[in-house]
Amino acid sequence: MLNRRMFLQGSAALGGAFTLGAGLAERAGAAPDPQILTARFAEAQIAAGGVTPRVMTYDPGDPASAAMPPVLRMRKGEPFAARLVNRLDEPTTVHWHGLRIANAMDGVPEMTQPYVYPGDGFDYLFTPPDAGTFWYHPHCNTLMQMGSGLTGVIVVENPEDPSFEVLNLRDWRLGASGEFIAPFKPRDAARGGTYGTVRTANWQREPVYDAPAGGLVRVRIAATDVTRIYTIGLEGAEARVIALDGNPVEIPFALDRLDLGPGQRVDLALRMPQSEGQHARLGNFRGSSPWTIAAFRAVGTSLKRELGDIAPLPPNPVAEADISTAKRIPIDLTATAEHEPAASICGSLGYTFWAINKVPWPGDTPDPVAPIEELKFGKSYVLEIANRTPHAHPIHLHGLSFRILASNRRSLLPPPTDTILLLPDEQAQLALVADNPGDWVFHCHIIEHQKTGMSAYFRVA
Ligand code: C2O
Ligand code: CU
Repeated sequence: MLNRRMFLQGSAALGGAFTLGAGLAERAGAAPDPQILTARFAEAQIAAGGVTPRVMTYDPGDPASAAMPPVLRMRKGEPFAARLVNRLDEPTTVHWHGLRIANAMDGVPEMTQPYVYPGDGFDYLFTPPDAGTFWYHPHCNTLMQMGSGLTGVIVVENPEDPSFEVLNLRDWRLGASGEFIAPFKPRDAARGGTYGTVRTANWQREPVYDAPAGGLVRVRIAATDVTRIYTIGLEGAEARVIALDGNPVEIPFALDRLDLGPGQRVDLALRMPQSEGQHARLGNFRGSSPWTIAAFRAVGTSLKRELGDIAPLPPNPVAEADISTAKRIPIDLTATAEHEPAASICGSLGYTFWAINKVPWPGDTPDPVAPIEELKFGKSYVLEIANRTPHAHPIHLHGLSFRILASNRRSLLPPPTDTILLLPDEQAQLALVADNPGDWVFHCHIIEHQKTGMSAYFRVA
């Protein structure tokens, strides 16, 4: 009998060929033309002090440009195809963060697909069921690959969506002349994570965008940094939060200060200042010295629009859990000093600092631990998650959305999400319906935490 491991090795052994993962997932219907995503090295001007060599990007077809991975536009309920071509010098994959798609398309090496070695490719084909703001990144050697640039934004459009600006927020660990420096410090990995030295939106330091005075601007913001938790706020204009983590909020609310952890997204509607030349500034207000992420400059005579003019976004088809029958699953996030890290094809940071239910696992390794729990297809569950550490952890679940039912640290309960920023000592109840079969990774999106043990998975069968 061919088990899954053998199957993966078998397809990897074909070597050089494009693995037809897509054929397994979606046999019906003609595939659309694939979006080419060539993972490759480039040079980019990111720091003030010099050009950064060996940035990694996804090139959509123009090898002369060294720019941010493209914003991928998909349509809700319509098939989307992408061909990953690996021109790096190490294996990679693409994970579609927040998209509830078939497990074979999830991009986790060893678990859902073979490694894509240099010179090889992989064809992805899936149909996103939800409209909203999502993102994509590798799921192999992630601290290095994401830290070097491989984080891009996905917009899944509803046919009737208004247009949005997209902001991809991330940092870079660069030295004074723009070169990459050590991606992390072990003592920080054992705490809140290691921060970058250059902060960017769309790979630019404090970009300024023009928009009509008194007009409405919708902005999709994705926090794709490997470490930084933002506390965003707006100065010089008013804004409403209209969606969080790819799902519309039921009643849009005024943006005051909003925490956004790695992996999370927020969609804002903002009304531009009335007079030409005035700025609305999106800032990070975490910590003692706030700074500007990006700004919007009013141009022209006022359009005199009102935030109330904005029609609500239609909800996504996320199933509601049946709480009365739901099985409860305790999940404890802890620090750990035990266990030796093992070398892995997808990289090892060489340390173990964190564990889920006492078991540390860095993810993306050939021999995963047992699943946290085997979930029965179609059944409801409540994850009783407890953060037993003094640090915040943005915990992400692949392939399934969950609803925060209750928490000892928050009163505002967001719409369904794929990533919860668990606060220090927070205990929360997360409800979900196990309606997507497969092995779904569950990990902290502070990548140093993930790669030093804070990773696990559920099996839905
Ligand atoms: Cu954003 Cu395991 O992923
Ligand atoms: Cu963490």
